[in-house]
Amino acid sequence: MSSPSFARLLIAWYQQHQRPLPWRHTRDPYRIWLSEIILQQTRVAQGLPYYHAFVEAFPDVQALAAAEERVVLRLWQGLGYYSRARNLHKCARHVVNAWHGRFPTTYAQLLTLPGVGPYTAAAIASFAFGEAVPVVDGNVFRVLARVFGMHTDIASSEAKKLFFEQAQRVMDRARPADFNQAMMELGAICCTPSSPTCHACPVAPLCFARQREAQQLLPVKSKKTKVRKRYVHYFAIRQANKTLMRERTGKDIWRGLYDFYCVETNRPARLDTLLAADPFLSRLRITQASKPVKHVLSHQQLKAVFYEAVFKKANTTLPEGMKWYGPRQVNALPKPVLIDAYVKGRHPISDTTG
Ligand code: ADE
Repeated sequence: MSSPSFARLLIAWYQQHQRPLPWRHTRDPYRIWLSEIILQQTRVAQGLPYYHAFVEAFPDVQALAAAEERVVLRLWQGLGYYSRARNLHKCARHVVNAWHGRFPTTYAQLLTLPGVGPYTAAAIASFAFGEAVPVVDGNVFRVLARVFGMHTDIASSEAKKLFFEQAQRVMDRARPADFNQAMMELGAICCTPSSPTCHACPVAPLCFARQREAQQLLPVKSKKTKVRKRYVHYFAIRQANKTLMRERTGKDIWRGLYDFYCVETNRPARLDTLLAADPFLSRLRITQASKPVKHVLSHQQLKAVFYEAVFKKANTTLPEGMKWYGPRQVNALPKPVLIDAYVKGRHPISDTTG
């Protein structure tokens, strides 16, 4: 098949069928970058309100750079993958300090920014500056694998390069922004993973998978990532209307977010076992327990139980990093959705504390 016809058909379709998304009507690299970071691992419907909230709170890169990290994390709350928010903030500061507040204008330079990989650099370079460099994300892998019959395992190390080169060969170099948006849009609304709507697809007549009824076989993806199971036991310790919380540090999930005193086990554990094993917990009187709550992350499954607790004796020394917060402060702190839901009373209470 000839590649020019692929790009032509694709762009003509995009012009008729694209969803009117706010970042498609701007060439402002700040807004484009912001939208792409938000949309990584996130569907458009979920990301849209966050995009609007960020643009409103931080209309330009200077405003974002000047914000406190905890304010940025609070606004990001609920989107998950919080390292994106920390990198977003770090990148804004880097653009202000190292680039005088103006985003670099080429793919190669954009790649040097914190948190900006080949995909995001290509998106900014093409959408804001018209550079002919293709975006390659999960949607694009799928479209290319199906249309051109590419059987390379998309989880393999060579896949990125091969698909990038294929996209370079077939893209319309005079219209890189439209071509890239169109590839993503086709993958998002037509060439979907499980039931693609091939009857509505502009490139169906050229499509390798369509001709062979092989849509379900492409793209090839090996390596199923193992889900790690974790059992977390949270102690919401209260005193005179205040709650004991701490900022999470270290390499684990949710760094920079706030939660309660926590004990983790690798299998379900009863309260009396926990109390016997942790000297700090022996200072608590437990007043209530929640039912176990399941919380699913991309590679982890958490089962959490929340305990309401008070100190048996006042003036107990607090564990490192823990501080008292009043209700309004608790509300303002950035928290994992699991914790936020508990604070808002959304997890059911158990009738026993055993
Ligand atoms: N997903 C990632 N980037 C996107 C974009 N620019 N438009 C729509 N969906 C996207």
